[in-house]
Amino acid sequence: MDLGLAGKTALVVGGTKGIGLAIARGLAEEGARVAVAGRSSPPDGAMPWASSFRADLTTEEAREGFARAVSEELGDVDVLVVTLGGSLGTGEFRTAKLEDFRRVMELNFFAPLHLTKLFLPSLERRKGVVLYVGSIWGLEAGGKPAYNAAKAALASLTKMAGRELLPLGVRVVGIAPGSILHPTSSWKRMEENDPQGFAAFVHANLPAGRLGTAEEVAAVAVFLASPRASWVAATTVVVDGGQSLRF
Ligand SMILES: NC(=O)c1ccc[n+]([C@@H]2O[C@H](COP(=O)([O-])OP(=O)(O)OC[C@H]3O[C@@H](n4cnc5c(N)ncnc54)[C@H](OP(=O)(O)O)[C@@H]3O)[C@@H](O)[C@H]2O)c1
Repeated sequence: MDLGLAGKTALVVGGTKGIGLAIARGLAEEGARVAVAGRSSPPDGAMPWASSFRADLTTEEAREGFARAVSEELGDVDVLVVTLGGSLGTGEFRTAKLEDFRRVMELNFFAPLHLTKLFLPSLERRKGVVLYVGSIWGLEAGGKPAYNAAKAALASLTKMAGRELLPLGVRVVGIAPGSILHPTSSWKRMEENDPQGFAAFVHANLPAGRLGTAEEVAAVAVFLASPRASWVAATTVVVDGGQSLRF
């Protein structure tokens, strides 16, 4: 199936490693011109074809400067993928500080929201797509409380912004992975440092007997970012090997 992505300009914010890197690779395989962003550069040789922007995007000022740099180098963007996120090691409700909640909200909710606003004029001109990488733990209870709240807010944004922007020709969609194993994921560290706890987690939570891969998430993400998914809008698609318990 030709996904219709050839020649499109795609920006993957959080595309330097993990799930974002796999999505960037998948988009490039479909012929898109791809740029990635993160605090670090992609590993050597991982993406010789991609433009790479280095910035810590947890402040408004940094995001504004980043959007200007992208506009100067790439022009308008057809596909904006926002995959940066994480629970930042915050604790349970009693131990997590208010500041921990703010940091996690900034990374997982305000950064995607602000980036969408910054790129909206460009996306409107190109009738583009916004793809957020959320989590099953934004659609049901799970994970650390701050992370759960931030990803739930992102799922709400996907619905509300998605319904508002569709009449302007901008399609917003979310993807909610379950637990994904890749070289830089926290699951990888758990597998190495606590193999028994890791095996118990898999046994209790994952009907397939394993975690998902970044490539399995990317395959769905690339389809969702493509014109072939034109009727998937303002919703979050679960990719979790049956891990979550919601219908
Ligand atoms: N792995 C899982 O099991 C899993 C499950 C469900 C949902 N998710 C979600 O999927 C997304 C990607 O997860 P992942 O496992 O691929 O994580 P990851 O390996 O830690 O990758 C995160 C990406 O975001 C970038 N990033 C992080 N903080 C940043 C900052 N302050 N400024 C700019 N870029 C930043 C990282 O680049 P630099 O390090 O270069 O900054 C990297 O490219 C996250 O939103 C996560 O919540 C993951």
